[in-house]
Amino acid sequence: MKKIRPQFVFSNSAEHPNKENTIEKDMATDESSNKRVLITVDEKDRGGPEKLKVTLGEIPVPSNSQVLIQVKACGVNFIDVYHRTGLYPGITEIGKEGAGVILAVGKQVEQFKVGQNTKELMVIPEPLLKTHKEKGYIYAAAIPLQGLTAHYLCRSVYDVGPNDTVLVHAGAGGTGGLLIQICKKILKCKCVITTVGSDDKAKVALQSGADYVINYEKEDFYEKVNLFTKGKGCNVVYDGVGKATWEKSLKCVSPLGRVVYFGNSSGKIPPIDPLELTKQGSVTLVRPNLAHFIATPEALQARAKELFEWIESQQLQIRIGAAIPLKNAAKAHQLIESRDTTGKIVLIP
Ligand SMILES: NC(=O)c1ccc[n+]([C@@H]2O[C@H](COP(=O)([O-])OP(=O)(O)OC[C@H]3O[C@@H](n4cnc5c(N)ncnc54)[C@H](OP(=O)(O)O)[C@@H]3O)[C@@H](O)[C@H]2O)c1
Repeated sequence: MKKIRPQFVFSNSAEHPNKENTIEKDMATDESSNKRVLITVDEKDRGGPEKLKVTLGEIPVPSNSQVLIQVKACGVNFIDVYHRTGLYPGITEIGKEGAGVILAVGKQVEQFKVGQNTKELMVIPEPLLKTHKEKGYIYAAAIPLQGLTAHYLCRSVYDVGPNDTVLVHAGAGGTGGLLIQICKKILKCKCVITTVGSDDKAKVALQSGADYVINYEKEDFYEKVNLFTKGKGCNVVYDGVGKATWEKSLKCVSPLGRVVYFGNSSGKIPPIDPLELTKQGSVTLVRPNLAHFIATPEALQARAKELFEWIESQQLQIRIGAAIPLKNAAKAHQLIESRDTTGKIVLIP
């Protein structure tokens, strides 16, 4: 049989469906609840966190190629903000990842079993759950999107090595904190320079292993990078901040280096004249998306395997900034947009 990449559907009720196309196990169910809680936004009424609604929906019955997960914790990512506001259009159900227990699997799904602890796309290794005990699902929910992103950015978009000097923006954030750790502690690059929005965040970025931290609310990060690199610039610049930083980020790249624009937390980057890349020294500009780097089951498994090895061997630490009840999802959005968070925000159903 052709290996399929299953789709995942989420429920935060313990009830499981009873349809012929799924293989099921008689798990403990919560008879009082046969609905799932959804965080949604109206297509035509988008805007700030206050536009989020907590609604009840039917628990989906997985198709032949789907897996139904009872969610125990959900990760919050900046992409949820883009989906809420419509910057990335077309999505009205907000939230991209969750960790929990498999309630049912479609008949074509071979690689997942009912009762397994899982998060979207990956089975959670048992040692992770055991190490963190009741917090296991929270840690698990915090890993996939930001972890896989940090992985593809420094292993595939640019293969960071011992001779590289790297600039990472928003180094106390979820993705930024992981990028610093991977570049410095695991890939052993020569130097990591990072930017942060406050002095408290600077301490967090230093703990992650950054060599130099710049508070870009107080200091000109381009001048500082110039100083730290003795005018040579950085081999690679990771910029997920966008509008506020892209222009100086481009100036921080060394000739033949690479600037990676991977997000828009401060707003969208305007169109860029390709001649600017020539002026900077024939640099390369990339605007990548995680989806393309985990497009096949093989690509996903290979990335997830290495990522989990780093986490299990404790080379890579997951920082949980806040765990908030799911019904307060708007609060989580308000926090991530206000730049008040470090590490990962997790919602608990
Ligand atoms: N392309 C991809 O495949 C991909 C995948 C995942 C994530 N991303 C992108 O990676 C970036 C980081 O995502 P994340 O989930 O890890 O979030 P995060 O870094 O935990 O939070 C965003 C951070 O951006 C910084 N920031 C600077 N200016 C901001 C502004 N005006 N408003 C809000 N935040 C601002 C803040 O840090 P300071 O206060 O320190 O500046 C804030 O903490 C986002 O742009 C996201 O879209 C891209």
